[in-house]
Amino acid sequence: MDAVNENVLPTQSFGPGSFTKLDLQQVPSPCFVVDEVKLRANLELLAEVGRASGAKVLSALKAFSMWRFAPLVSEYLDGVCTSGLWEARLAQKHYQASAQASAKNFEITTYCAAYKAQDMEEIKQLSEHIIFNSPEALQRFGTQVKNSCSIGLRLNPLHREGLVAKYDPCAPGSRLGTPVTRLAEVFETPELAQLVDGIHIHTLCEQDLLPLIRTWQALKPHLSPYFKHLKWINLGGGHHITRPDYDRSGLIRFLKDLAQETECQIYIEPGEAVALDAGVLVGEVLDVTYTPEHDPKGAYQVILDISATCHMPDVIEAPYRPALMHEVSAEARQAGEAFIWARFGGPSCLAGDQIGVYALAQVPNIGDRVAFLDQAHYSMVKTNTFNGVPLPSIALWSSQTQELELVKSFTWESFEERLS
Ligand SMILES: Cc1ncc(COP(=O)(O)O)c(C=O)c1O
Repeated sequence: MDAVNENVLPTQSFGPGSFTKLDLQQVPSPCFVVDEVKLRANLELLAEVGRASGAKVLSALKAFSMWRFAPLVSEYLDGVCTSGLWEARLAQKHYQASAQASAKNFEITTYCAAYKAQDMEEIKQLSEHIIFNSPEALQRFGTQVKNSCSIGLRLNPLHREGLVAKYDPCAPGSRLGTPVTRLAEVFETPELAQLVDGIHIHTLCEQDLLPLIRTWQALKPHLSPYFKHLKWINLGGGHHITRPDYDRSGLIRFLKDLAQETECQIYIEPGEAVALDAGVLVGEVLDVTYTPEHDPKGAYQVILDISATCHMPDVIEAPYRPALMHEVSAEARQAGEAFIWARFGGPSCLAGDQIGVYALAQVPNIGDRVAFLDQAHYSMVKTNTFNGVPLPSIALWSSQTQELELVKSFTWESFEERLS
């Protein structure tokens, strides 16, 4: 294993699917290409889980918010979950509006680790559920929003299932969710207890059913004394429901039993599962060099117009190695198929803007197109404005005169415009 590829998470892509039929020369480069057929197939599986279990299935906009597909998402699912004001606006304008046009009930749930006071009035108008991260936030905003929406509290079950601390909201020191050990403080304080209708957890990442079951088993002893207070339980995202080997019938049984046991409406809010394997990121080869004595793998250096840091930040953050269309597989290599190693990196100046080392059938030429698989979720939103977190304004200040000029502020419209 060389320095670039050590400690990488495995890719979760199940292959290129129909993207092998895409002519990569037909799109500009770089370009995210999303297959509406695959998206619909994923949505059908998610809707079936909802229909069969009685749970409401919300699409997490933080993972995939290409709102060109809002009518399709709202045709299949019960709502969307948003991460704050900007995504909530997107949810109402595009997703809820298209559901309403076909007289369908469609819910918007908003959870943010911390809200700005100035955003609360609008968020409460836009959302059916608002979820607070802490009893402190509940205390601060609960009364203000209670008359407009149903209130939830995010819990940290203090039960770890995550493979990587960075993606594990139950890792020590996590700021996400109220530790279950504080539940009594909330439900035994009448002013707080009367505000809360629901409980939210989000502790999984690309996981199957068993981690969810184990999480519930860990949470239940803490929560069961308070079932009577609750109208709904939201199990967050991280459920890899649309992958071929996910135990969907087990999930349906689990969700049904949970609703019966708690007498609550159950919600799940998958993000990645909505767009799993539904998009690729197409790029172009800009330069190829070969100095094998300087490369731990004797690889060709291939510089692309795709940058890990700008277009696929999870490649560096996770880190993980995105699957590449037409890579020579390990089995083919073992069977003696000819290949060369190519180290792909971006055009930016960051030394770590490296995507991975790939086995190619031949040395690439300048102008060749490549496609990284499973890029519709997270890469696309992170290339823009993740979670709808507004971009910082830019100001000019003179330390001599104290004169201040606001040079640029980024509007919600600029966020909306960038997503589709
Ligand atoms: C609160 C919450 N809900 C839902 C999701 C969606 O998770 P996933 O895309 O892994 O299904 C996330 C992802 O971070 C989240 O933080």
